[in-house]
Amino acid sequence: MLILVTGGTGYIGSHTVLALLDAGYEVLIADNYINSKPEALRRVRKLSGQDVPFALCDLRDEAATDALFAAHPDIEAVIHFAGLKAVGESVHKPFLYYDNNLKSTLNLLNAMQKYGVHAFVFSSSATVYGDPVSLPIREDAPLHVASPYGRTKLMIEEMLRDIAQADPAFRVSLLRYFNPVGAHPSGLIGEDPNGIPNNLMPFIAQVAVGKLDRLPIYGDDYDTPDGTGVRDYIHVCDLAEGHVAALKALTAPGVYTFNLGTGLGYSVFDIVHEYERACGHPIAYAMKPRRAGDVASCYADPSQARDTLHWEAKRDLAQMCEDSWNFQRNNPDGYNDD
Ligand code: NAD
Ligand code: UFG
Repeated sequence: MLILVTGGTGYIGSHTVLALLDAGYEVLIADNYINSKPEALRRVRKLSGQDVPFALCDLRDEAATDALFAAHPDIEAVIHFAGLKAVGESVHKPFLYYDNNLKSTLNLLNAMQKYGVHAFVFSSSATVYGDPVSLPIREDAPLHVASPYGRTKLMIEEMLRDIAQADPAFRVSLLRYFNPVGAHPSGLIGEDPNGIPNNLMPFIAQVAVGKLDRLPIYGDDYDTPDGTGVRDYIHVCDLAEGHVAALKALTAPGVYTFNLGTGLGYSVFDIVHEYERACGHPIAYAMKPRRAGDVASCYADPSQARDTLHWEAKRDLAQMCEDSWNFQRNNPDGYNDD
């Protein structure tokens, strides 16, 4: 069964491609390398021992997206990772985010309908819950988005519900990720952000390896046990396996929504201390004011995924930090090392 993985050379996509190949699926990756590098593909091929097919394709290009399906009539399902994902950047460049994330998805869905492909797994985000009304967060919690990035996720979720209602052939899984971290245990693939990382664990990793001086900790006056923000960090390999489970379960028409998280909340200091254990030395930090748009706490009720997909996250925080560190110290400059 051939699965089209858009954004398959990116952070979560590359790990999911490996999980899909492990599970016996055939994979075709489509990416335009706007936020990833050919080296990621080379390493996925090396790790899998397979010459994984790749199409250099900008999904904003309607004709190119159509041609992808025309050239691969055996595509049976699509896992759609391709998109821009920086919350802060989206506030300054909303047009870029609406143009890229919405146009790509529309072109993809249009081609799917034309070529009779109806199984779709979408990378949504816990960002659609905004500042959660209650914790842990269930899938039926109220939705509220605070950035253009978040709005693209919510708009796409709503678009998919409309499309699936109008065309009952569509089977759609909306996967709301919490905070993906860590790397493949081989240390060959991992997160390789451009420039200074926005997210906590890649920032800590670059402090640990000596590329950055100190971690800014944004706020110690939240209503949390130690005053710093609490999140549900999930190992990227668990997340990747969650996609395989979602794909397998996608047998009936309709739209299904799942939180992919561990259900555990860790503070910024919890992460710093666990990372110090992993790398064996202290992480320098400096307290800073709260970051605009951050919420105090965000963690999942993952029981729907456990009960329906028979999937749950297995890797603990120690493993997340060890695997992140393993990738970072082997690749201090990310994929640029080669
Ligand atoms: P990533 O940037 O590493 O991967 C996204 C990939 O999509 C990149 O390889 C990029 O080159 C590609 N891409 C972007 N626009 C494209 C286009 N128009 N045509 C073709 N390829 C395109 O990001 P990631 O962390 O792997 O995230 C994957 C998905 O999961 C994204 O949709 C993101 O919004 C979502 N998500 C990520 C997180 C997170 O914290 N990493 C959390 C929640 C949701
Ligand atoms: N933090 C710091 N210093 C940093 C970076 C982060 O103290 O340098 C803190 C934040 O204030 C927050 C926590 O670490 O309390 C986690 O922050 P991240 O930036 O790693 O993650 P977010 O929860 O803010 O956002 C991430 C993704 C979003 C996604 C969301 C929910 O970046 O795209 O998880 O899935 F929507």
